[in-house]
Amino acid sequence: MPSVFLKTYGCQMNERDSEAVAAQLVAKGYALAPSEAAADVVLLNTCSVRDNAEQKAVDKMTNLAGQFRKQRPGVLLGFLGCMAQSRGRELIDQLPDVDLVVGTQKFHRVADYVDDLLAGRRDKIVDTEEERGSEATIKEHLLNGASKGRAATAFVSIMQGCNQYCTFCIVPYTRGQERSRTIPDIVAECRELVARGVKEITLLGQIVTSYGRREILEHDGKSAFVQLIEAVHAIDGLERIRFTSPHPKGYGDDLVEAYGRLPKLVESAHLPVQSGSDRVLKLMHRGYTRARFLDIIAKLRAVHPEMGITTDIIVGFPGETEADFAETLSLAREVEFDNAFVFKYSPRRDTPAAAMPDQLPEDLIETRHAQLLALINEIAEAKHKACEGRVLQILVEGPSRKNPARLEGRTRANKIVIFEGSERHIGQVMDVRIVRAAPFTLYGDPAILNLN
Ligand code: 5AD
Repeated sequence: MPSVFLKTYGCQMNERDSEAVAAQLVAKGYALAPSEAAADVVLLNTCSVRDNAEQKAVDKMTNLAGQFRKQRPGVLLGFLGCMAQSRGRELIDQLPDVDLVVGTQKFHRVADYVDDLLAGRRDKIVDTEEERGSEATIKEHLLNGASKGRAATAFVSIMQGCNQYCTFCIVPYTRGQERSRTIPDIVAECRELVARGVKEITLLGQIVTSYGRREILEHDGKSAFVQLIEAVHAIDGLERIRFTSPHPKGYGDDLVEAYGRLPKLVESAHLPVQSGSDRVLKLMHRGYTRARFLDIIAKLRAVHPEMGITTDIIVGFPGETEADFAETLSLAREVEFDNAFVFKYSPRRDTPAAAMPDQLPEDLIETRHAQLLALINEIAEAKHKACEGRVLQILVEGPSRKNPARLEGRTRANKIVIFEGSERHIGQVMDVRIVRAAPFTLYGDPAILNLN
């Protein structure tokens, strides 16, 4: 059978979509190629959130369409996902060697389209249509390490799309309107994963705090999302639950309280703030204030003082003044994030912010980016350092990416720990003593449980 190389750009949702596409291809008999070199089909699953993400995928495809294609004219080339959705046929106009363009509601059709193209039944295929029910089509799992018959962690897609329309963000245009899967459907998928050895599930969506809000009624003061977490929590054999990404606007007290009530919901929260300035938050159409964000953080820490808190921040939004930026710096100091993704504002097509006056010059954005990143890193390192000497629970995920002779796990607060262990530890929840902290990694020693 032909082999397929699938390269993924962007977020965890894209990773998850690629995994489902790969699983569907494997089910049809295709092999997965470790690199493009020997592949018969090369698919790029793309990201549109910033211009450089799009540029990377376009550059890659330009290379593939050049030398590579000349040497191997039969190779099939395709774009999938967000950029495919927002640019559609225009991508083939720009790169005529591309055979396939499949948008975000049609991932489940990719394997059939590849069949059709390879068999010569069709020439070029562009499918960026909307499809009712497409939110429930990202189901198949490959499970990394499936060769060993198990993987400790898995992502589960619970919804698609976003109706928030932040003025900088292209996602509502690439992923469409919010659509949620049902609780029983999601729970069935999670159960099956647990039966296959999965210990930790991350519930995924572009705005998970909006999960099911139109379809599923509040019950006992609990939102649809908290009801979903409870249902997943009840699965025997599942050890840990995470989710990403929530939005501060929909972050109710019921969700904060869930962290206190549900022990499998680990002490980790990724909560994008974007800016520390109320003026900029308003221009961004975020729907909350700095004070409201700080209030959520305080409540989370009241439930769990050890909560690992990370965020996303954009610097250089149109009209951002020195005073606005100073507010972002002060917010970062005040919250002391465990880590943060800091992004330079990138104008996106069709978004209101791209047409706002006072777009900032690149060098100013660059300066602010470097300044904020330095602060974020300084705080993150100090937080890491504070872990030295402590005993922390980890879930062992597999061999370390940097040094496969060692094992790698994650703490409940989502920090990576490397330690010397053996194959039998993979998939285990265990305690390790942190012996050393590097900026991005903790080094641990297995600790003996419950000695005292
Ligand atoms: N420019 C820069 N960063 C952006 N993000 C989303 N849109 C843009 C943009 N136009 C960032 C936000 C979001 C993360 C996934 O990407 O911080 O939370």
